[in-house]
Parts: sequence; structure tokens; C-alpha cells
Amino acid sequence: MKTLKLVTIVGARPQFVKAAALSRAIAAFNGSDGDVTIDERIVHTGQHYDENMSKVFFDELGIPAPQVNIEVGSAPHGRQTGEMLSGVEQILLDERPDLVLVYGDANSTLAGALAAAKLSIPVAHVEAGVQDRMQRTPEAINGVLADCVATLLLCPTERAARNLAECGITEGVHNVGDVMHDSFLRHLPAAREKNYALELLGLKDKSYYLLTVHRAENADDPSRLSGIVEALGNLGKPVVWPLHPRTREALREMRAELGGYVHTIAPVGYLDMISLEAGARIILTDSGGVQKEAYWSSVPCVTLRDETEWGELLDAGCNRLAGTDAEKILAAVAAVEAQDCSLPTEMPTEIFGDGRSAEKIVSLLAGSVLSVTP
Ligand code: UD1
Ligand code: UDP
Repeated sequence: MKTLKLVTIVGARPQFVKAAALSRAIAAFNGSDGDVTIDERIVHTGQHYDENMSKVFFDELGIPAPQVNIEVGSAPHGRQTGEMLSGVEQILLDERPDLVLVYGDANSTLAGALAAAKLSIPVAHVEAGVQDRMQRTPEAINGVLADCVATLLLCPTERAARNLAECGITEGVHNVGDVMHDSFLRHLPAAREKNYALELLGLKDKSYYLLTVHRAENADDPSRLSGIVEALGNLGKPVVWPLHPRTREALREMRAELGGYVHTIAPVGYLDMISLEAGARIILTDSGGVQKEAYWSSVPCVTLRDETEWGELLDAGCNRLAGTDAEKILAAVAAVEAQDCSLPTEMPTEIFGDGRSAEKIVSLLAGSVLSVTP
């Protein structure tokens, strides 16, 4: 029996959702009679630390408790990433894992990937190939750099694998589907039972819009954030807005006035979020993950950005890029309403895999130890 010693680096909310699917698949794999076991240690960088940004996900999704929390907290990019880099490096020196696993495109992704690569430890990047190397958002920089140092590039879609090929990266590339899709499918039935908008706010199914905003380019730019706020006043339906702490602070500083039809609430746990998504008439968001969840919920999405890394969703016709100009947002919402909100009946469901992405990743991880260890 061979053991793969794996260190998983997480730190930000969407990474917990992704890690949940994989940790569950690792436990199932270890319970089968294979030639390999995977010994996973989870390292939390501490990038997200509020209970409703971190602990709630570990509790609700049954993610194994982190072995270590580096507790970096919030700071400007350089300091935050630097402190993570130094903290992760020390852990890797102590643990000497066979492989380091990172997710997505947050600062925790870059720090984990870089620390491992500099120690010549192979890196597996989940959500590889998604980001565009020509973009200059923090997420694009993190995602592209993690791709550059990864040895196992685990793409969520065919398009992501093609992006890598266009950059000359072909070795170690696998289209495995999206682990967020695995998590979503697993938790949707329980989330639907909840009917959280009704329970919390008395809002019936499809009677409200769901909004999330947290990207630095929106939350930290008062002109963009006020475009979104202005649009809310004219949407004509209640809006449920779980507020990311970055955005809560920005709205406070702007002294933004939101009408009574805008229900701002604290960040919610994953099940409540999926429930809110499934019950929404339209989702307005600048989140990467929420755009995909809108699609999986068959709820149309208006994306409050100028570009999206999920071009697949634009191609599928269920996502409109509106930016943050109030008029453009209102026009996008009106256009979706005019279509009676229905999505194409033949929505290609296979774009993000079949919901067994984590299993495929675990097989690849196990295969890597068999191919390396004498
Ligand atoms: C980060 C990721 C972003 C991802 C998002 C998921 C980077 C560069 N960005 O953005 O890609 O979409 O997570 O949610 O890694 N804060 C709290 N409590 C917390 C966490 C944050 O109050 O538990 C506040 C702090 O004021 C902090 C701000 O939110 O400065 C931003 O947090 P940070 O982790 O730097 O970036 P996110 O906007 O969360
Ligand atoms: N999410 C959540 N509660 C919230 C907002 C988001 O559970 O209040 C979940 C959401 O369902 C998705 C993930 O967090 O699974 C996405 O995280 P976020 O939007 O913060 O980051 P991004 O995907 O843009 O990196």
C-alpha cells in the first residue's frame, strides 16, 4: 500500500466549497480497497476568518478541520500573500508532502502554489486554465501564475483546457469537470427543502432578485458600486443581498441609501445560499462561483462585470454581461424578464462535467503517486 501525502491549501469562501467535494471523495477513495491511500492535511491560510465566511462552511459541509490555520487575516495584497507564502513554506518544510493542492484564483491559491513550487513539490491546481492571461484583475494574476507552476492542471471545462493549450501548456492537463458542480448537485435537494427567502423574509419563490457583489473592481470603486446601487432603486422587485464584509464596509463609507425593498443580510452559509439562488427570479452578481450556480439552478444571471472568466455561460445564452452602469443593468434585467425568464430548453448540462469531478481528481492524484514512487 502506498500513501500519497497531500497538503491542501484553502483560505477563501469559494475554496471551502470546492475542498468539501474533494475531501469527501478522498474519504470514499480511502475506504475502498485500492493500492493507494491519500493522507490529506488541510492548511487554512486565514484569509477569510469571520464565522460566516469560514467556519460555517467547515461545519455545514463536513470538511475535515484544518491541521493548521496561519491566521494571516486581512491586509493589502503584497503583505497578505507574503505572509501566507512564508507560513505555507514553513508548513511544507515540516510536512514534506508529495503534492500540494490549490483551488481557484485567490491570494491563498498563489501563495500555496508558489511556496510548493519553490520547494520543488508538485502542485495540483483545481480550476486551472480558467483565467485569461491578458487580464489584470487580482484573480487573473493569481490563477494564471498558479497555472504556470502547476504540474497537474485540473480544468473544469474543455474551454479551460483549450486556453492552456493556446499558452503552450499541454502536459499534465486534464478536463475533469467542476468540483463546485459536484458540491452543488449534492446539496441542492436539501437547499430546496429550506426555502430560505420565505423563511427569512417572507419572499415567495421567483418573487425576488438575488444580488452579490464583492469583487475589488466593484466594491473598491465608488463609481461602479454606486451604479449598482442606483439600479437597485428601479428594479421593481425585492432584492436579497447577502453582503460580503468588503462591500458592507464600502456601502457604509459611501453612506449608500438603499430602499426598503433591498434586503441586505449577513453572508449566509452554503445551503442557505443555494436555496436563495434556486428561488430567485434573476441572479445579479460579480461572483465567479455564483454565475455558475445560477446556471446549475436554471436561473438567468446578469453579471455585474465587464468580462467573465466563464465565457461558457455567455455562449449558453443564460448569462448577460452588464457591467455596473445602472442603465445597462436595468436593460439586461428587462431583457431577461421579456424572455419570460426561461432558459434555453436544451441547455448543455455537460459543460462543467457530470458531478463526479472530485472522483476523477482523486484518481489522478492517486495515479501520480503510483507513477512517481519506486
Ligand atoms: C477574495 C478573493 C476573491 C474571491 C473572494 C471570495 C483575492 C485576491 N480575492 O476576495 O477572488 O472571489 O475572496 O469571497 O484573494 N473581510 C472580513 N472578514 C473576513 C474576510 C474579509 O471582514 O472573514 C474583509 C476585510 O475588510 C478584507 C476584505 O473583506 O480587507 C477583503 O477580503 P479579502 O480576502 O482580501 O478579499 P475578498 O474580497 O474576500
Ligand atoms: N456563498 C455563500 N454565502 C454567501 C455568498 C456566497 O455560501 O453569502 C457561496 C456561493 O454559493 C459560492 C461561493 O460562496 O459557492 C462563491 O464565493 P464568492 O462569491 O465569495 O467568490 P468567487 O466565486 O467570486 O470567487
